[in-house]
Amino acid sequence: MTKKKIFAIVPEEEFVNREELLDRLYCDAMDTARQASDNIVLLGRRRVGKSAVLTRVYDKLFFEQDLVVPIYFTYEGLPSNLGEYIAEEYFKNFVSQYIAFKKKDIKLRKKATDLNLALKLAQELEDTGLMEIIEAYIDAKQKQYFQGIVHNSIGAPRMVAEENESAICVIIDEFQEILKIVDRDGRILNFKGLYQFAVESALATHIISGSAVTIMRQEILRRGPLLGRFEPYKISGLSTEYAIELQDRLSKMYGFEMPYEQKVYLANYTSGLPFYIKKILLEIKRYKVPIVTEEVLCKAISHEITRGGIYDTLEMLLLQYAKQNKLNITRSVLYQCANFEDKKINPYEIAEKLQVSSIEVMEALSQMSRADLIEPSGGFYYNIPDPVMILK
Ligand SMILES: Nc1ncnc2c1ncn2[C@@H]1O[C@H](COP(=O)(O)OP(=O)(O)OP(=O)(O)O)[C@@H](O)[C@H]1O
Ligand SMILES: [Mg+2]
Repeated sequence: MTKKKIFAIVPEEEFVNREELLDRLYCDAMDTARQASDNIVLLGRRRVGKSAVLTRVYDKLFFEQDLVVPIYFTYEGLPSNLGEYIAEEYFKNFVSQYIAFKKKDIKLRKKATDLNLALKLAQELEDTGLMEIIEAYIDAKQKQYFQGIVHNSIGAPRMVAEENESAICVIIDEFQEILKIVDRDGRILNFKGLYQFAVESALATHIISGSAVTIMRQEILRRGPLLGRFEPYKISGLSTEYAIELQDRLSKMYGFEMPYEQKVYLANYTSGLPFYIKKILLEIKRYKVPIVTEEVLCKAISHEITRGGIYDTLEMLLLQYAKQNKLNITRSVLYQCANFEDKKINPYEIAEKLQVSSIEVMEALSQMSRADLIEPSGGFYYNIPDPVMILK
């Protein structure tokens, strides 16, 4: 993989494995040039490394080929969920990344967000598709024609690709955030419908992913206009071999020695989730010990799941998905769920233990499943195979 980086979020020295998935996604993106590609959704547990893969695919596409224009966009952390604002960000991002790629100048990713400059550069490039879409977008904006603004924005990759008969691959992270986009009156907008148009072209492949897998599955992939339009690819935790390799690299960087048996233990304990491994090793680094004994490892794990970064992640999820006045009960229900291990979670048993109504427990379970903390299956809920999250 390339060492040149634009978005890649994991440092080169740390990044392990994923070659097969990276190659597959890269080839899919390249297949767009032969109109032989499909739209793809990358699904995997929280913190398993989805964004790390997507950003690397983008970087490789940017630096190592000329046939397919790569575009990367994340719906994460935008300061507003107002449709017009998002459409503008999305469009400017598309235009500027397109030009930066064509001109082989990464600085233009920032500069060419000025649409007048972008239009000039599109003329210089003699790029008809791009010129037309910028003009159409500016026109819709001047007329304050909202439908035109959002359609020209989300549909831009498809329209440009088809006009020019050349390939574009759009990589989108945190895609589930489209469900929150609203109009000026606060009404939810139909971005799924806009994407239905955008993804229906063999010349504009869309590769999407997001951290809320259950929401992606239930509300985007299994119903409505995007049903059946994405081929699912799965990403799992690192195998024991690669989880050990990651620990080898990190422990060397952090300056301690980790015996083989501790590495195997941690690989299994974390189900190979690189995020957990890194957090626990960072905690060990703070202890300034030369060698990691079983006690040291247990201390670091218990710190991480009770107060450290892993605990914070869990709290963040609870805060995001559980209603404020139900936080404590949701936390208690989650704790009780761990007792069911790999068996069906019984809400009535939990209700009895916590002395609350079963309706309250069911509500908490439903919120937890939206946060991917437990898994719905066949009308019941199960723990996810994640020893850290189920607070063992
Ligand atoms: N292949 C890898 N090699 C080494 N470390 C990795 C790898 N993939 C991910 N990581 C580590 O795990 C962390 C989480 O990765 P990433 O943000 O890609 O996960 P994600 O699945 O996108 O998470 P979320 O579900 O929150 O969106 C990274 O910051 C990095 O420390
Ligand atoms: Mg991510």
